[in-house]
Amino acid sequence: MKIIPQPKKFEKICGSFTINQDCYIYCDKEFKSQAERLVGMVLTSTGINVTFTDEIDNAKIIFSKYEDCGDEAYIVMLSQDILTVKANTFSGCFYAVETLRQLFELDSEQQEISCVNCYIEDRPKYVHRGLLIDICRHFYGTGVLKQIIDIMSQVKLNKLHLHLSDDQGFRVQIDKYPLLNTVSSMRDGSEVVKNGKKYVEEEPHGGYLTKDEIREIVKYAAERAIDVIPEIDIPGHSVAALAAYPEYSCAGQIAEVRKQWGISKDILCAGNDGVYAFVCGILDEVCELFPSKYIHLGGDEVPKDRWCNCKLCREKLAELHLKDFDELQTYMVEVFRKHLEEKGKTVICWNDGITDTTDKKIISQVWKPFTNKDGIKDANNGRKVIMSPFFRTYFDYPYAMTPLSKTLRFKPDKGVKKVNRANVLGVEGCLWTEYVDSVDKLFFNLLPRVDVLSECAWGYRGRSIKKRIQSRFEIYDKMNVVCNKSGLRSKRNIRLINKFFKKNANIELERYLGKGKEKTL
Ligand code: ACM
Ligand code: ZN
Repeated sequence: MKIIPQPKKFEKICGSFTINQDCYIYCDKEFKSQAERLVGMVLTSTGINVTFTDEIDNAKIIFSKYEDCGDEAYIVMLSQDILTVKANTFSGCFYAVETLRQLFELDSEQQEISCVNCYIEDRPKYVHRGLLIDICRHFYGTGVLKQIIDIMSQVKLNKLHLHLSDDQGFRVQIDKYPLLNTVSSMRDGSEVVKNGKKYVEEEPHGGYLTKDEIREIVKYAAERAIDVIPEIDIPGHSVAALAAYPEYSCAGQIAEVRKQWGISKDILCAGNDGVYAFVCGILDEVCELFPSKYIHLGGDEVPKDRWCNCKLCREKLAELHLKDFDELQTYMVEVFRKHLEEKGKTVICWNDGITDTTDKKIISQVWKPFTNKDGIKDANNGRKVIMSPFFRTYFDYPYAMTPLSKTLRFKPDKGVKKVNRANVLGVEGCLWTEYVDSVDKLFFNLLPRVDVLSECAWGYRGRSIKKRIQSRFEIYDKMNVVCNKSGLRSKRNIRLINKFFKKNANIELERYLGKGKEKTL
């Protein structure tokens, strides 16, 4: 069976099940939307109109509520000429329909659809099965985000992490601070690795999501069992915001929204009370827009140079009797954590922004030190963690550096003591977009990596993954998105990695699309 991700339990049963004109469908009220979704897919695929009935005894397809099913779990059974779907939640039922879509190949046109009888019992191993999209370095709007959501939902990923603020752009409408949209959302140029060198190309780039667009995305995602988690990165990665509101930096002046990538020393001042009000004002509007229980506060890559030289920051350190500036960052995050807790939110931070004194309620998203070593430590120390190890789940890098096998072989809770394994909430793939400057590149880098990510996140790696991934290719072709079909053969290649970093960041995509000048590769 070509199902991605591999279900927990799959058993073939004798015989087969056919959906035809004589099929009636019965469903518990709660699952009407999903039963209708299945009926719609069957109609599109075959022209067959499956009719609803109120009489369960007349039905060949039955959707029923089953309270013993776990939160995202479902059962699908095809046997004795009856197709049964059981679930306890919207998500579980949604996933059952996605499994049926793959089983019956409902994305293809067919006359009549049949499938071998089987029993499927499925439940994800991890509650957090996420994908980060950085819309700061390069902006992608609702059209692309909806396509990403469609794909995520097909492979049962459930958390879309939107990276909304960084040095190179601020991407969400905030009414209280309008300059964040007029000034912080635009930059005059971007660093590129092209034509054999690295330089700044002076071409304006920008955009942001309006409040209506965010609401649209959140709703679209929720209908597909996906929670959208916003990230406002503080106190570092804030140059775009500071370019509009320089009074919140230590020196009081920031020239422009950053064009180069990498880490800026300019960060929010921790000694200025106005900064706390500024960030809370932004967070309040963000919380109103995103119903998610989670909010990400970044906290990664925060050089303390400016704080060391700032009178206000030094005074704050002394006043709070803190040991160093890392603890000052911890203090700052704690102010916002408490503010957000009052709104029922749980904070996530990147692990390099977390210290021994960081409140245990903060979830650590582990990307450093390039393995999940710190994640194992954090989980064993009682902190909840999301694993995003750099060499396994950073999808902005070439396949020559991060082949599919790296993601596939990753076991998020490996190394964590059995009693602490529940602290590993799951895994998240990250698409940073410094060098993702086109929609083609975005999907090329994501596909088929998200298929593999999902197999890792559901936790039941099955056999013949390559064949199962290939079954996705036709779907991606139909969606008109670029998928790296050669990715299945990807292997580490130092020469190509060097070219990516020094000469041409689009080298793999260009080769794949046949646009590259082969002799210069
Ligand atoms: C990160 O990659 N800076 C979280
Ligand atoms: Zn300062």
